[in-house]
Amino acid sequence: MKLSVIGTGYVGLTTGVCFSEIGHTVICVDNDKTKIALLKKNKVPIYEPGLEEILRKNVKNKRLSFSTNIKEAVKKSDVIFISVGTPPREDGSADLSYIENVASEIAKNMDGYKLIVDKSTVPVETGEKVELTIKRNLKKNIPSDVASNPEFLREGSAVYDTFNPDRVVIGVSSKKAEDILREIYKPLKTKILVTDIKSAEIIKHASNSFLATKISFINAVANICERCGADVEKVAEGMGLDKRIGSAFLNAGIGFGGFCFPKDLEAFLWISEKLGYQFDLLKNVREINEYQKHIFIKKIEDALWIIKGKTIGILGLAFKPNTDDMRFAPSIDIIKTLQKEGARIKAFDPKATEKAKEVLKNVVYCKNPYEVAKDADCLAILTEWDEIKSIDLKKIKKLLKHPIIIDGRNIFEPKEVEKLGFIYKGIGR
Ligand code: UGA
Repeated sequence: MKLSVIGTGYVGLTTGVCFSEIGHTVICVDNDKTKIALLKKNKVPIYEPGLEEILRKNVKNKRLSFSTNIKEAVKKSDVIFISVGTPPREDGSADLSYIENVASEIAKNMDGYKLIVDKSTVPVETGEKVELTIKRNLKKNIPSDVASNPEFLREGSAVYDTFNPDRVVIGVSSKKAEDILREIYKPLKTKILVTDIKSAEIIKHASNSFLATKISFINAVANICERCGADVEKVAEGMGLDKRIGSAFLNAGIGFGGFCFPKDLEAFLWISEKLGYQFDLLKNVREINEYQKHIFIKKIEDALWIIKGKTIGILGLAFKPNTDDMRFAPSIDIIKTLQKEGARIKAFDPKATEKAKEVLKNVVYCKNPYEVAKDADCLAILTEWDEIKSIDLKKIKKLLKHPIIIDGRNIFEPKEVEKLGFIYKGIGR
């Protein structure tokens, strides 16, 4: 099929590239000229394992191209996916102006039937607004359909997730739209759930909010474990063995970050309130998440007593491993608070250093964990990268001023680290 994907962020770019890999002809469109110029040179502007290889392959076989020209892309495509940003506004609601812009551009340039599919994460009832925008901006009476097709890929494993989704959700209001979307996803041989548009929109917000709730729940349990001497890792294992609960997303730590969970939680709260329902549970989820960062800093204070003048070595800056994304990373608040208290910060991240430099100033960025450890008063682990999990602890101990590790991701076994002579504090154990 001939497809366009408007917006080349994590979701749009991965979707476009993967659609071309499963046989469709795809134009990825963005109004950011620098980004498109880079993509035209076969360079991926983000760190996402495996993406660049598939991109190169499909550009070569002419199934994938990049453009800043939305007009041309609309004319050349049967189906147009909207995958632009929906950033948070001050009040927590999603800024939908990019969606509106793209929808009106599509309408103005339509020359025949088009299926317009929203892939961006949006509050319920956005589909209706997109339909209205299209009708308003159409030059003549051309038929079209609007559909919702939320995306569930995770950063860091975006390519794998796109080819191996647990489910594909399509929210439609016509059989024609359903058939087209089924055809697009056919090569994936996956479970397709067909719903109305509003339900599909809610599935996305509810899924992200539920996963965030799971994380905050285990973090709350971690705090109880810590107070009574239980081990949250064991508790999570025991809970997760129950199939109804499942073991995923039960890792206690410094809380969730990234551009999805914090933003989508706020947006879901906002739309719930707008619809007249107080979704207070989600407020608690947010509070627990904030508290985790506070607890982590408290652990560093307890270990070092006075923060002022101390050197704190940070291992991991990205909001999770296998990504260079720093948006809403817990590391930002944690490092800024420690700096405010007068700490000197040295840090290492395998991929996120360049992006971290844009948001975290006065940090000594190091090339490896050992450079960070040298003469630091303690080590604080913020992201569970493999490169960090596999550090040589004996070497680290020799380099540190004091053998203290505060582990915000529970990557080590406390007893083993303590055996090596470290003072070690994890989360909830
Ligand atoms: C999340 C969802 O998992 C995807 O399904 C969704 O498509 C995406 O948001 C989105 O809406 O675009 P992502 O933000 O890439 O994906 O990352 P996750 O792997 O979900 O992790 C989010 C945060 O939760 C990270 O900071 C991670 O460290 C934290 N986390 C995750 C925990 O603290 N504990 C866990 O057990 C799991």
